[in-house]
Amino acid sequence: MDGNSGGPGASGAGGTAAASIAPLLAPDGWALLEALPPYPGPDAALGLGARLRAEGADPALVAAALTQSRLRARAAAKFGPFADGMLFTAEGLEQATRLEVAAHHARRFRDAGCTRVADLGCGIGGDAMALASLGLEVLAVDRDEAAAAVATVNLRHWPEVRVRRADVLDVLPHLGAGTDPGLAGVDGAWLDPARRTASGRRVLDPERASPPWSAVLDVAARVPATGVKLAPGIPRDLAAASGRSAEVQWVSVDGDVVEAGCWFGPLARPGVAASALVLRGGPGGRTTTVVDGTGMEPPAAIAAPDGVGAYLYDPDGAVVRSGLVGRVAELVGGVLVDPTIAYVTSSRLVETPLARALAVEEVWPFGLKALRTRLRDRGVGAVEVLKRGSAVDVEQLRRSLRLEGPRSATLVLTRLAGQQHVLLCRPVVHG
Ligand SMILES: C[S@@+](CC[C@H](N)C(=O)[O-])C[C@H]1O[C@@H](n2cnc3c(N)ncnc32)[C@H](O)[C@@H]1O
Repeated sequence: MDGNSGGPGASGAGGTAAASIAPLLAPDGWALLEALPPYPGPDAALGLGARLRAEGADPALVAAALTQSRLRARAAAKFGPFADGMLFTAEGLEQATRLEVAAHHARRFRDAGCTRVADLGCGIGGDAMALASLGLEVLAVDRDEAAAAVATVNLRHWPEVRVRRADVLDVLPHLGAGTDPGLAGVDGAWLDPARRTASGRRVLDPERASPPWSAVLDVAARVPATGVKLAPGIPRDLAAASGRSAEVQWVSVDGDVVEAGCWFGPLARPGVAASALVLRGGPGGRTTTVVDGTGMEPPAAIAAPDGVGAYLYDPDGAVVRSGLVGRVAELVGGVLVDPTIAYVTSSRLVETPLARALAVEEVWPFGLKALRTRLRDRGVGAVEVLKRGSAVDVEQLRRSLRLEGPRSATLVLTRLAGQQHVLLCRPVVHG
């Protein structure tokens, strides 16, 4: 907590999640957790728990340690090998920023020259860890007792990090005012507002997140270098509609759009209102691609359905959300299939992390009976269905097609120059 002494000696745990963490913060609890084998799966964990209890371990401690062991195993997807030295709450893990994305957040602060960043709603400390690992001083604040306790443990390796259990709304008036010693000199602020209600329902309106969008704007007014993680579905003009200029960057990881990061002041790149950060591939061949709209021509579209070329490009979700499909069109020398649809077509095959390429075999006007006959004639027994700008219910379509045959194919349901069509495609495997 504030005055973080480091190490899993944090105290003050109470409440449900915090109570299950508390036994692990004592030396014998931590020792038991560290001595556990890798999480063996739920069934074997029952046996392991029984054995530990039979050997005399406190049942509450065994339960807490096995819960952490399970959460650590799950957390490896976000935190890699670091997960094994961390503590989690189930909710905190679900909400945490994966380390790879947090590293991108942290770099923005470092590159903007920030030295002391307040992480306002730090959760289990995913973002704060990335900030600290770049050598930034961090004040990590969370009102939740369990989150603050767990963040204290997870940030123990960085003595220059302070964790404070407090409400951001109470901290906010002191930002930039310089009367609170913990907040003095804060030159960067990061927020990752909770997007679930107490009953667990997701909230889409950023003003209903906690802290709300209005508080984020207040922080940004006090600390110019403010960044905030928002849901990917926010309106593209959210910041502009609030009278603020910002760079909003949609981020995808292996095709899943995970966030829209909104960057104010020196954290925004000059002249860039929207951008996409696309992270793809395995550890051996990870690619990181950033695109923005600077100097981009508005994309053209085909004039008639027969304008579809040999290839169809399905742009990454971050590119679509950020409104930068024109970048894909430029890259592949293509055009949109319709002025309002985010598919690009081209006669050229170009390998890019920004879009998935499909080879177009045939193009038909959409009609169920004709489609069924055509797929039967071609021996297509399994289909992957993609759609944009089509109201067709995919599962119902699958049932109605009653497919049979040895071939598999990709069907793309979409509008071509204003008319509903279906494209029979084959995925392109780049060599
Ligand atoms: C999405 S999580 C943050 C996750 C974090 N960025 C990470 O990577 O681990 C949001 C956190 O904000 C905290 N929070 C929500 N409203 C708050 C408020 N008014 N004051 C302090 N903390 C708040 C919640 O307790 C939760 O831990």
